[in-house]
Amino acid sequence: MKHPEILQKLSLEQKCALLSGKNTWQTQDYPKQGVPAIWLSDGPNGLRKQAGAADHLGLNPSVPATCFPTAATMANSWDPALGEEVGRALGEETAANRVNVLLGPGLNVKRSPLCGRSFEYFSEDPYLSGKMAAAYVRGIQENGVAACPKHFAVNSQELRRMASNSVLDERTLRELYLTAFEIVVKEAHPKSIMSAYNKVNDIYANENHHLLVDILRNEWGFDGAVVTDWGGSNDHVEGVKNGSTLEMPSPGLGGARKLLKAVAEGSLTEQEIDLRVDELLELVLSTTTAMEKAPRKFDEKAHHELARRAAAESIVLLKNEGGILPLKYGKKIALIGDFALTPRYQGAGSSMVNPTQVDSLKDAMEAAELEMVGYCAGYERSGKQNQAYLDEAVSQAKMADVVLLCIGLDESSESEGLDRTHIGIPAVQKQLLDAVTAANPNVVAVVSAGSVIETDWVEKCKAVVHGYLGGQAGAMLAVLTGWQNPCGRLAETIPLRYEDTPAARYFPGRKQNAEYREGLYVGYRYYETANKAVRYPFGYGLSYTTFAYSDLKVNAENVTFTITNTGSVAGAEVAQLYVAKPDAKVFRPAKELKGFVKVFLKPGESKAVTITLDDKTFRYWNVATDRWEVEGGNYQLLVGANVQDIRLTAEIALPGTGAPDPYAGKALEHYRTAHVQDVPDAKFEALLGRPLPEETTAIDRTMTLGELNHSRSPLCWLIAGVLTLLLRSGEKRGKPNLNILFQYNMPLRGLAQMTGGIIGEETVDGLVMEAKGFWVVGILRALVGLVQNAVANSRYQAKLDEQCR
Ligand code: BGC
Repeated sequence: MKHPEILQKLSLEQKCALLSGKNTWQTQDYPKQGVPAIWLSDGPNGLRKQAGAADHLGLNPSVPATCFPTAATMANSWDPALGEEVGRALGEETAANRVNVLLGPGLNVKRSPLCGRSFEYFSEDPYLSGKMAAAYVRGIQENGVAACPKHFAVNSQELRRMASNSVLDERTLRELYLTAFEIVVKEAHPKSIMSAYNKVNDIYANENHHLLVDILRNEWGFDGAVVTDWGGSNDHVEGVKNGSTLEMPSPGLGGARKLLKAVAEGSLTEQEIDLRVDELLELVLSTTTAMEKAPRKFDEKAHHELARRAAAESIVLLKNEGGILPLKYGKKIALIGDFALTPRYQGAGSSMVNPTQVDSLKDAMEAAELEMVGYCAGYERSGKQNQAYLDEAVSQAKMADVVLLCIGLDESSESEGLDRTHIGIPAVQKQLLDAVTAANPNVVAVVSAGSVIETDWVEKCKAVVHGYLGGQAGAMLAVLTGWQNPCGRLAETIPLRYEDTPAARYFPGRKQNAEYREGLYVGYRYYETANKAVRYPFGYGLSYTTFAYSDLKVNAENVTFTITNTGSVAGAEVAQLYVAKPDAKVFRPAKELKGFVKVFLKPGESKAVTITLDDKTFRYWNVATDRWEVEGGNYQLLVGANVQDIRLTAEIALPGTGAPDPYAGKALEHYRTAHVQDVPDAKFEALLGRPLPEETTAIDRTMTLGELNHSRSPLCWLIAGVLTLLLRSGEKRGKPNLNILFQYNMPLRGLAQMTGGIIGEETVDGLVMEAKGFWVVGILRALVGLVQNAVANSRYQAKLDEQCR
């Protein structure tokens, strides 16, 4: 224990209450015992401190803060040092606003491009995700405040996000979905971590002993606080028992009462409570001390400039035919597209920042005094047809030498709470693109989107620049003009079509289970192994200069080689190290990223670079020995500019750990060949090593409000009906209602978590009875429960008040 003297001063009631929040963003405080409250705020790409009305969906305003590029954008920089700088600035703003814990970064591996929160996550690759996230955490925590990497773990879809069960084999869990978290925990020591809403192999992540105790705490040595996602505490007693520390937001004192009862009944010990309280005290005290010393202001201008630099380093040039870019002075430019005036620069939901200022491409172009034929919106952001806009765009395109066409995804196309249904851009934008490219062949598509989009229109454009979501400062003009040589590289593959993606037939899990049948073959791991053509491969990005690779040398510790800038302008290259073992006995992806380095070079300059090999370079998770092993034999070390463009190759022989092939004799041909798009039940079960969990819509606390139509109560049907109607009307308006979406996907027990203590477990039990068809008894139970809960909470609060006096 780190704080035995405080633990001694706290009563059991106080300790139990400390393990749930005091309100939406703060923890309990006991001034007499020297325990202050701490403040936790979103989010990954900027601080979202709600000083007034609070919500966890970004609906109410927050204090102004710098909106940095989102994680999906920053990952394209492949620059952990830059990530650390951004983290440092985030931490500074966090401390200046007297927030102790910044809820981020988000580092879930991108299983499918349809996930509504893709913009908030780094990459389809765990190594890149882990390295970027670790950099953020180091930067944030340098200010003494805590980072809270999220969502641990296997959280890949928004549909049924609080009620979905991620079903996957242990090897896929370890190699793909946990490796990024392992890197962040071991290399950056976050003071807290956020557990995911979902279940992992039948057990809620927040109650999952295997995840929270065996792996996170025992294997990786995490000694911080595990914080639930907001409303993600299914059973607080189970959580606390299995390594979860703090339940957020405040469910009133219902959680504390459950803990007290469990201790009284002997199903939980006071020592177990003490362990968790000690972790929380450490988080509270260490961050409070540091914060008290922190300045109350931050340099807004400097952070804005950092946001600009971060965006500039992350923009990816996908196509540049005939050197149309950089733009030449004297050329007449038409700037077309609503995003040029009102930039799409961040995602929607809990990560939504109230920016200190926002720069638009139009303003930047006007300030740069480029020769413009004009600006026009081209399309309605809402997706509504507008012939006048289209005509205006065509006439401007006809007058211009070059057209900058700003397209992409609007705010409602990607958001927390909602998965996308396709990866195309809105139809009105496609129409515009057709019309404008027909009117003028010199079109540069400038894309804003937080994730992968289908680019089947790419042949019609001379150049394509993907800016992702660049944050409040934006840097597109710098790249378009060549003031900044583009040096972003894709942190995720752009497929030819959505149907080509490995989980296309499995994503999202619509019922209880989300089955990860594609196993290890996510992103480029799939395309490279199954030999599937893609539009733009993982790691891809162009530059205004060229680079040559030479002199590869490898040994057991590292790989060294030389990169030369062979062009005429300064630029940066992202050299990537992939490992392959074509003769592997234990099936594995054809190539896996195991290191990378970003090198800035002047024209003609050469630099020798080193990538260090580490414990992750050759390992695989062996499900028979239940540990990391290395297969003996020859490995290829491939150095390249992207996963397909390998420039240098060397081999290394390793003795290996001699473990037996865990899959010997098993019919796993789908996994040996990576033909994983249609894995039959039996084959997936063979990989899992157990039967698939059953799927039944049980009428219990875990039934979602949207599922209440399967209940036996007219009242519940009405609730489900009204929610569905509201949802549909939001969809029709092209503006999804995040609040309704959250409620639709929320299990009944969420009512006890998300109502600040008004509704307690007693009422939830009554509603379950109601749903089971006990119409009158159920509703009476629910109503009586409201009173019981209020009385029990106020008695508990009185005791706490007395003990604090
Ligand atoms: C999100 C978290 C976020 C929390 C608090 C949840 O809905 O999943 O990422 O940190 O709300 O806003």
